[in-house]
Amino acid sequence: MILLGKFITLEGIDGAGKSTNSLWLADILRSRGLNVINTREPGGTELGDKIRHIILENDMSPEAETMLIFAARFEHFKNIIQPSIRNNIWVICDRFIDATYAYQGSGKGVSLEFIKSLEGLLSTNMASSIVPDLTLLFDIPFDLMLQRISHIKKLDRFERNNDIFFNRVRKSYLEIARKNPCRVKVIDSSKCLENTKSIISEIINNFLVSL
Ligand code: TMP
Repeated sequence: MILLGKFITLEGIDGAGKSTNSLWLADILRSRGLNVINTREPGGTELGDKIRHIILENDMSPEAETMLIFAARFEHFKNIIQPSIRNNIWVICDRFIDATYAYQGSGKGVSLEFIKSLEGLLSTNMASSIVPDLTLLFDIPFDLMLQRISHIKKLDRFERNNDIFFNRVRKSYLEIARKNPCRVKVIDSSKCLENTKSIISEIINNFLVSL
C-alpha cells in the first residue's frame, strides 16, 4: 500500500498566529513519527519567492495580483506540495487557496468566477486533489491584529490595508469555514499562546484518530 502524506493549511488575517504555530505543529507531528515540511504562499519555491516579493512590494490590479499568486501556486503545488504528499511527507502550508478567496475575492473585489477559473485550471493540471485535508483558521479581531503587527517597522502593501478591508477578509474566512466544517477548524487565537496550542493539539489528535 502506498502511504500518502497529508496536506494541512494555516489561514487567518495577518498577526493571527499562523507562522508562530506552524513550526510548533510540525514538531508535534514529527513527535508522532511523521515526516513533515513547512512551506508558505505566496512563495515555497525560488520562483515563488520572487513572485512574492513582486506582489508584496508593487501596486497592481487585483486581477494581475491573483494571476501572479496562482502562477506561484502552480509551481509550488507541482514541485513541492504534490511530490511531498506522494512521498508520504506531510505538508504544512502557511496560506493556500482560501487566502485568495478571502483577500483577493472578498477583500479586493476580484470576482468569484475569476478565482474559480484559475483554481479549476490548477486542479485539472495536477491530476490529484488540490484540496487540503485539514485547514486551521486562526481568528482574531482587527484591533488585535493592529496590536500584534505594531512592532513591524515597514508594513507591506497588504498589511497597510484598513479595518474595512480586514473585516471583509475575516468574514470571508469565517464563511469558508461555515461552508466546509469538516475541513476547516476555526481557532480563536486572541487568547494566550498556550490556549491556542492546546486547541491545536486537540484538533490534531482528532484528525489523526480519523485517518
Ligand atoms: P504572509 O504574511 O502570511 O506570509 O502573507 C503575505 C500576504 O499575502 C498576506 O498579507 C496575505 C497575502 N496573500 C493574498 O493576498 N492572497 C493569497 O492567496 C495568499 C496566499 C496570500
